[in-house]
Amino acid sequence: MAIEPIIIGNWKMHKTAQQAVAFIRELSSLLAKKKGASVWLAVPFTAIVPAVKAAEGTDIVIGAQNMNEASHGAFTGEIAASMLKEAGAKFVLLGHSERRHLFHETNEKIGAKVGKALEEGLTPVLCVGETEKEREEGYEEILKEQILEGFKLAAKTDAKKVLLAYEPVWAIGTGKTATPKMAEEAHKFCRGVLAEHFGKRNSSLVPVLYGGSVKPDNIGSLLKEKDINGALVGGASLEAKTFSQIVNH
Ligand code: PGA
Repeated sequence: MAIEPIIIGNWKMHKTAQQAVAFIRELSSLLAKKKGASVWLAVPFTAIVPAVKAAEGTDIVIGAQNMNEASHGAFTGEIAASMLKEAGAKFVLLGHSERRHLFHETNEKIGAKVGKALEEGLTPVLCVGETEKEREEGYEEILKEQILEGFKLAAKTDAKKVLLAYEPVWAIGTGKTATPKMAEEAHKFCRGVLAEHFGKRNSSLVPVLYGGSVKPDNIGSLLKEKDINGALVGGASLEAKTFSQIVNH
């Protein structure tokens, strides 16, 4: 069964609530009627409620970029899955490389977050990827551990409720995209690991997105690859015009 492509914009720490609303209005006017992909936006926490409202009547899906693995508690500055859910978020990015490297999140912590998101009915988008050094040393083991630990609490039947994003760290925000062939090779490897965890049949339901310097001029060749089911876009998702070109590709 072919998976419909999904393009997720990851705004990171960009856009106020007002800017988010203006972006969504502009984007919906630029999206082609027959789009090549579903559009999801991972917005800052303060923009979730207004973004959900602005996206009403469109098929743009709004989500968050992170959450805590606990239900609630004395965790100053953190946010719970139930809070995101109530605000209208449908999905949450988990284990993005910036969370892993700048905020020292471990595979274990990310796995707990994925479990919590599933428990609350939020779609987790597990992000994995190797650094440049890890690629030189053999990146397969790193990816395998990130995927198996990340989905540790996900049951076989949860395969239809999760997404995986492969983002080589050396390609994020650097303009160095993996070639479609390199990306396809890594995606194929990820599919094998997913099959190990979810079973072959269930794992074929998990969309595997590519991330790392995706732009209007490389999206087409990336999506031509068999195991690439969409993209996670950072920098090029900040301007409605550029982002719409990626979606309309
Ligand atoms: P980039 O970011 O598209 O700016 O490389 C991708 C990401 O961090 O998800």
